[in-house]
Amino acid sequence: MAKKILPDKKGLFYPTEEIKKRSWVNNKKIYEEADKNPIKFWEKVASELFWKKKWQKAFEHKPPFFKWFLGGKLNITENALDGNLPKRKDKPAFIWEPEPTNEKPRILTYGDLLKEVNKFANALKKLGVKKGDKVGIYMPMIPEVIISMLACARIGAVYSVVFSAFSPSALKIRLQIIEAKVLITADGYYRRGKPINLKESADEGIKETMVKKVIVVKRVGNKINWDAKKDLWWHECVKNQSENCPAVAMNSEDLLFILFTSGTTGTPKGCEHVCGGYMVQAYWTGKLIFDLHEETIFWSTADIGWITGATYSCYSPLLNGTTFILYEGCPDWPAFDRWAQIIEKYKVTVFYTAPTAIRMFMKYGSDLVKKYSFNSLKLLGSVGEPIDEAAWNWYFQKVGKGRCLIVDTWWQTETGGILITSLPGIGPFKPAFSGLPLPGVRFDILDEKKKRPPIGEQGNLILLPPFAPGLLRGTYKDPKKYLETYWSQYGKKIYFTSDAALKDKNGLIRIVGRVDDVIKVAGHRLSTGEMEAVINLHPEVVECAVLGIPDKIKGEVPIAFVVPEDKSPCPALRDKVINQVRREIGSIATLKEVYVVEDLPKTRSGKIMRRILRKLSTGEELGDLSTLSNPESVGKIQIIIKNANKI
Ligand code: WT7
Repeated sequence: MAKKILPDKKGLFYPTEEIKKRSWVNNKKIYEEADKNPIKFWEKVASELFWKKKWQKAFEHKPPFFKWFLGGKLNITENALDGNLPKRKDKPAFIWEPEPTNEKPRILTYGDLLKEVNKFANALKKLGVKKGDKVGIYMPMIPEVIISMLACARIGAVYSVVFSAFSPSALKIRLQIIEAKVLITADGYYRRGKPINLKESADEGIKETMVKKVIVVKRVGNKINWDAKKDLWWHECVKNQSENCPAVAMNSEDLLFILFTSGTTGTPKGCEHVCGGYMVQAYWTGKLIFDLHEETIFWSTADIGWITGATYSCYSPLLNGTTFILYEGCPDWPAFDRWAQIIEKYKVTVFYTAPTAIRMFMKYGSDLVKKYSFNSLKLLGSVGEPIDEAAWNWYFQKVGKGRCLIVDTWWQTETGGILITSLPGIGPFKPAFSGLPLPGVRFDILDEKKKRPPIGEQGNLILLPPFAPGLLRGTYKDPKKYLETYWSQYGKKIYFTSDAALKDKNGLIRIVGRVDDVIKVAGHRLSTGEMEAVINLHPEVVECAVLGIPDKIKGEVPIAFVVPEDKSPCPALRDKVINQVRREIGSIATLKEVYVVEDLPKTRSGKIMRRILRKLSTGEELGDLSTLSNPESVGKIQIIIKNANKI
């Protein structure tokens, strides 16, 4: 039995001798070595992988643009699949756990996975998909989603995975931006025991797009509409396809995938991730941070529609020859402890989830997890939003049983892979702190005046050259947004993360939260600007403001203030607005409350004062109202909020 990990006098946690011994990296000299020459350091990491042709130049910087491993040629699937054969031909690459408990899991060995990927890659080729073509993937957590991503990568098609719970409108705009010609989807999937008709959303989403063919996986067998001109069954596409398919040689800087994320404005940003740099970072961060070994069973609970899914529920474990778990459904379905059962059933050794899930587990009560020994667990991970001390302690004591360290990993859709967390073989760990930047990665915290705030005080988190190989290279078809969002606050040579952070005296970083109007709802990134744009489309709405307020389980939830057309508060509008947002974005964007108000507090220049709305809704002290052009609006809103809360 592993030893308990106890904090030192300063409240810091370090790995035990046993943990140090089994970790890939346990000497803190790695930080000095990497810092001396980060580019050389990343080159060393990159050489652990197979390249069809070695790069000639490691890094090039023409601010705000930069490139890594120039001249190199590779295919990520050769490292993720072929490279694991013959040694791991019969080793499970992943185990798929369906949500319904009466269905059997599916195990795909590395040998099987390569065959399936090749067959599907050949099917795509038969449809005319070539290197550089764009493919949409709108799929639930089923084995075929992994096969689809890898098959696209195999032939150099650029794919974009769209979260399956996103609405048809959200799918449509993404397919339109990338000009996808093919969409891969499924008939349905299970969510809380209920079959969801995904094909119906896909049918709606491809209207007014360039999609010519829709490949449909038969998952549920639900009734769906069929358009014989467009629709193809997956199983028919792959029938009789060869199990061999050469991997296309990709340039390091060729696009691998585009993943959309929410930003400040109404339209989502397509983050561009490239073949070489992304591969290196996905491989290395998994090895270093999750300490992926031959015997590791890795479970990242993130949906494949998010970057955590792409990097840690697919590429990173495969690049490290590890077995991972792919779970279709909700962690608390059909019982609150489904997640715990999965850990025990598959003897998961590394468990990676989000604070919102941890808070949900906590809500069910500690007694309920007592019966689980979680003996297989060696390491825990957290991602997506700050983990508060209470959740950290619960996770550490009740799941890790005091024997597992917690890597609180900070990163973003844009960074492609983790960039800040203390390392399991080195430490130190401190509750509610992400810890140290990875070796070779240079972060700083600066205030608005480009000065470092004193220790313990917060400022903006920024990333310095040479950044990291996995960082996005652009926002698809919108170079202006790239420049404005990331490279304008501190100039073209400094990447602005949009997060506030602080450092303690040990140099450990604590992430405070976003400084833009992005909110994190149950770990998912949503833009209040995008929600406002959707609400403003409603004919009865004149203007609105959306903001995030604290929530015990989800971290944050969105609420809206709307001004109706005829300025007279009409209660029916509340439900219409809630439905509008659900329909246009998806159920994750469900508004917790909608206040129909006469007027919004504004500055003299007409800017909506969201700060005041936030304080009104949380009941905080309002402070100075003298800059408002319409201070009388505040009292009226106060009454509306009070009345709504009484109901
Ligand atoms: C934002 C990025 C990349 C993983 C999933 C989220 C917040 C992420 C942490 C953490 C505190 C975190 C930040 C960041 N965030 N990880 N460990 N501690 N905050 O990706 O949806 O692009 O969101 O999530 O605010 O900017 P994403």
